[in-house]
Amino acid sequence: MSITNLDAPPVVAVRAEGLAKAFGTHRAVDGIDLDIRTGEIFGVLGPNGAGKTTTLRMLATLLAIDEGRAEIFGVDVSREPHVIRQLVGVTGQYASVDENLTARENLWLFGRLQGLPSPRARRVGDDLLGRFGLEDAADKPIAQFSGGMRRRLDLAASLITRPPLIFLDEPTTGLDPRTRGQMWDTIRELVADGCTVLLTTQYLDEADQLSDRIAVIDRGRKVAEGTPDELKTAVGDSTLQVHLADPGDVQDAVQVVRRVLGSDPVLSPEQARLNVALEQADMAAEVLIALRTAGLSISSVSVAKPSLDEVFLVLTGHETDADTTKEDRR
Ligand SMILES: Nc1ncnc2c1ncn2[C@@H]1O[C@H](COP(=O)(O)OP(=O)(O)O)[C@@H](O)[C@H]1O
Ligand SMILES: [Mg+2]
Repeated sequence: MSITNLDAPPVVAVRAEGLAKAFGTHRAVDGIDLDIRTGEIFGVLGPNGAGKTTTLRMLATLLAIDEGRAEIFGVDVSREPHVIRQLVGVTGQYASVDENLTARENLWLFGRLQGLPSPRARRVGDDLLGRFGLEDAADKPIAQFSGGMRRRLDLAASLITRPPLIFLDEPTTGLDPRTRGQMWDTIRELVADGCTVLLTTQYLDEADQLSDRIAVIDRGRKVAEGTPDELKTAVGDSTLQVHLADPGDVQDAVQVVRRVLGSDPVLSPEQARLNVALEQADMAAEVLIALRTAGLSISSVSVAKPSLDEVFLVLTGHETDADTTKEDRR
């Protein structure tokens, strides 16, 4: 006999249909659908300017929804914003808190601002400091905190009210690899504790490592969605990039790749380049041998794990916008 648990949260954590937001004439978010299940980590992957933050801000009631609708645990975001604010923990709102106060004082203050009685605010704050490995630094002013410590404190602050859904907007951008790994562990622990996480990222590896499912967004639209494995299958396990010595050889090279792999390479806007998705890295050799046999000369070759740029090239047929890409690489 099955027993229905009436307190169990609804299965759907977030449902958005046709979500849109324009700034002036620019449609920053242009009709996005989302379906996020309770208990999963859902990754929104996209380059700078894709509309990730704007999407989160609409879902968190921090920005009005222009078109479409959204529900969180069955509650309409536009109609019941005060209920939504109880359900969602948002990071990045913590920046305004006092730099001269210690981490412990800041968390206490934040708890008080959320309406907790003083002893409870202290208890919850201390518990979170422990959970985020900040006990040793608890009594230092946050002016002395490193970037990674600040992120953890920020995340701790967003958890004071124990929201069932957490939004993390690029939680590891700018962090060093070790601190990034710690943040990943923290995020996994949140989910093990029963939270649902919606995170945005510019990093394919981060989305891959953390997410149960990923939506790839580009210029305000969703261009792909699936599990990391499904997306990687679409893009290939690795990418062979071939620069031809003569741009006039491109069509012949496409024929060769098609014959060897049974699929077409993606042509980069700069014409002499082919991006070939490979199921296995060692298939690169067969492609290169076939190109040589066909008499096509190659100026350079690389094989790499697909980067976000390549995912984009494969999924959208264009590169991540040149201006933002430059910014990222600077
Ligand atoms: N408050 C705003 N006013 C005008 N344009 C904005 C505003 N916020 C974001 N944008 C623009 O909307 C687009 C999407 O921005 P954003 O959601 O921040 O992207 P992402 O978080 O993916 O980098 C960008 O072109 C950005 O310049
Ligand atoms: Mg952003």
